[in-house]
Amino acid sequence: TEEKYLGGRPELGEVEGILLPKATCSEWSRIQSFQARPDDLLICTYPKAGTTWIQEIVDMIQQEGDLDKCQRAPLHHRHPFVEWARPPQPSELGPSGVDQAKALPSPRTLKTHLPVKLLPPSFWEQNCKFLYVARNAKDCMVSYYHFQRMSKVLPDPGSWPEYFQTFMAGRVGWGPWYNHVKGWWKAKDSHCVLFLFYEDMKEDPKREIRKVMQFMGKYLDETTLDKVVHHTSFEIMKDNHMVNRAGVPLTIMDQSISPFMRKGTVGDWKNHFTVAQNEIFDIDYKNKMVDTSLTFRMEL
Ligand code: A3P
Repeated sequence: TEEKYLGGRPELGEVEGILLPKATCSEWSRIQSFQARPDDLLICTYPKAGTTWIQEIVDMIQQEGDLDKCQRAPLHHRHPFVEWARPPQPSELGPSGVDQAKALPSPRTLKTHLPVKLLPPSFWEQNCKFLYVARNAKDCMVSYYHFQRMSKVLPDPGSWPEYFQTFMAGRVGWGPWYNHVKGWWKAKDSHCVLFLFYEDMKEDPKREIRKVMQFMGKYLDETTLDKVVHHTSFEIMKDNHMVNRAGVPLTIMDQSISPFMRKGTVGDWKNHFTVAQNEIFDIDYKNKMVDTSLTFRMEL
């Protein structure tokens, strides 16, 4: 295993047909028996949908706009990543999400990329609050492609045309985008889910941050709200070392290949998809999304 982490890229494992990091698969029973607490707030996203962005927004609201407090630690220390398991090597990857969460006093804010069907049941039993951010599939695909180019703990994405097929087939970490968004969209009918869209957040961050505040039962004054909006803009966050993964070692992420804070826009897929790819994608998309009322904006 050590060789795999130091040399080539690790492969993914699989749980119930969903690809996940191997270490997560090995720890699966521990992750499934995770004990949620009723006052947990769980941030849920498909990878690359704007997780980091919503995490910083939530923390800024919780800290009532206190920038120093938000600088207390990198995001992955502030919000344990539930299904993150620690592979044997390298040790820089830190403790597992389960252990980290256990040690955290309540009320906790946690992060997950798990689809509904793989979420530890105790989150449903405890009636936790879920904050889901969804991003349109084309931009997610592009963002994930660049992320896999630079992340050393996920498989090499191959060429763009190869990745295009891989993503559509759902053969990426955390499984198909399609079932992920549809599952969480449905969950909001029976659970406490605030369902946000990346595109809406780009269009009017203040409006969307107000929704988050309301959902969290936190009311900040107008000046503080403006401060949150400013501090969580892409331009500010990309230079913020507590969110831009600056401290992550080169063996895990090589940001010279592609920065973690890459572009932060809606519609970058147009710079990647060929006309032919777009047609293929749209036909396949229509089939996969026929059984949901959920719709996305692919541009602003
Ligand atoms: P791009 O690769 O399109 O730039 P995640 O945090 O879920 O991994 O998502 C990462 C994506 O969100 C990246 O998209 C990143 O640039 C974008 N992002 C991060 N912070 C952002 C912000 N404050 N505003 C807009 N987009 C942001």
